[in-house]
Amino acid sequence: MTSPRRTFAIISHPDAGKTTLTEKLLYVGGAIHLAGEVKARGANRRARSDWMKIEQQRGISVTSSVMTFEKDGVTFNLLDTPGHEDFSEDTYRTLTAVDSAVMVIDAARGIEAQTRKLFEVCRLRSVPIITFVNKVDREGRSPFELLDEIADVLALDVTPMNWPIGMGGEFEGIMDLKSGAISRPEGDSRVFTGKTDATPLSDRFAEEVELAQGGYADFDAEAYRHGDLTPVYFGSALKDFGPAELIRALADFAPPPRPQPAEPAPISPEEKEVTGFIFKVQANMDPQHRDRIAFMRLCSGVFKRGMKLTPTGHGKPIAVHSPILFFAQDREIADEAFPGDIIGIPNHGTLRVGDTLSEKADVRFTGLPNFAPEILRRVQLKDPTKTKQLRKALDDMAEEGVTQVFYPEIGSNWIIGVVGQLQLDVLLSRLDAEYKVAAALEPAPFDTARWVSAADAGELKTFMDQNRSAMAKDRDGNPVFLAKSAWEVNYVADRYPKVSFAATRER
Ligand code: G4P
Repeated sequence: MTSPRRTFAIISHPDAGKTTLTEKLLYVGGAIHLAGEVKARGANRRARSDWMKIEQQRGISVTSSVMTFEKDGVTFNLLDTPGHEDFSEDTYRTLTAVDSAVMVIDAARGIEAQTRKLFEVCRLRSVPIITFVNKVDREGRSPFELLDEIADVLALDVTPMNWPIGMGGEFEGIMDLKSGAISRPEGDSRVFTGKTDATPLSDRFAEEVELAQGGYADFDAEAYRHGDLTPVYFGSALKDFGPAELIRALADFAPPPRPQPAEPAPISPEEKEVTGFIFKVQANMDPQHRDRIAFMRLCSGVFKRGMKLTPTGHGKPIAVHSPILFFAQDREIADEAFPGDIIGIPNHGTLRVGDTLSEKADVRFTGLPNFAPEILRRVQLKDPTKTKQLRKALDDMAEEGVTQVFYPEIGSNWIIGVVGQLQLDVLLSRLDAEYKVAAALEPAPFDTARWVSAADAGELKTFMDQNRSAMAKDRDGNPVFLAKSAWEVNYVADRYPKVSFAATRER
């Protein structure tokens, strides 16, 4: 009998405390012995790779990683989503591989831009969310105000599960609203070491807690799992208030691996056949090697080392001899993995983002999206004899999901699109180091892109003919409209009501 799985990600805006919380979750989960090791280990790991110099310079992690730990008989797979402003499509796509998410917000700042974007991706796939309001040991906004903001901005029902007794200098602990037990800060550093009590509250806080208990919907696990309600925990990752409760909440409420959308029919985790999909490909840990690691989310069956899996639609079966499981301490060679687990599969570029791998060849997971780029650049080749290499490089990187590439109908300059600035640096540095192509990026006269389609082929053709200078094809030959602004997208959409303009495209 295998242990239950909880595969989740943490979504947040930079600085809200995701790294701190990750460390504490791993610590509570017994995966690391000292808080602080995540960063150090990250730095060590990064030092190994060359193009990841960018990561070091910027002090951020470009690539998502996977951390597995076990607590009280439950196996947790925490998928890291880079939280910097320069986040990429990887960040979005990682959310297609999880069953739930923890949303961390800063008690002083509330919902910030990036949290909201990531939240929208979760909503697209009805990924249920547990909210953690962090940093209550500092001055923050009133809990009522924060709850209202979450409810309004995200259009979710909210249920506070605990309540901060004061914040900042007045912080006296966190009350569990069900049991009434109060977790208390201790010592000079005011951390939580496990001391709880149930002493009566002062009038002011008693009143607040009463309002909190009466003023919100009761927790409804079903509504949470549907993505309609979020339980809210207040705490301080830094001072150890919250991490243990979050792990318990994930174990008690978060969904186990869910059936995944697929053709011809959704795949249930109970199915015997091994299936999974690639949501991320990480290349060039060492630029001298063509090795890549494809990250597969296992969706059904029990995976065993050495098993042969076939990528749907292309290629022969591949034998997976050295799969990697990502324990927080070390990368371990996996002998077995279960639905919800993530496996790293070393390969030489055969596996692409969006691929389905299975024992039987006739299923295909759907719904792994491409996202409309938010930054577009023209690629200018410095040495015109390298056109072929450039095309190969751009196609490779589009396959990996690093960048998207668009081939305009008119003109010869290819356009690349990314969702975060950092991807541009990664692109240039890899073109140079790996493909020996010197290129420059110049501003493109476009700001965003939409995949266009229409039920009536004639309508689509009319639109494309009338907007030829803004039309391009993506790597797979799908028509894309390049727009100068979001405003232009709306304007054109109004004029061509029979054409649809999509900001995401399923791969
Ligand atoms: P991120 O990964 O979401 O970007 O955030 P990170 O955990 O790095 O935290 C950002 C800053 O907020 C850090 O301070 C961290 O110590 C602090 N922080 C995180 N959780 C809490 C909390 O519960 N209470 C308080 N008071 N602070 C918290 P820093 O000074 O930027 O970095 P550091 O040098 O202390 O690591």
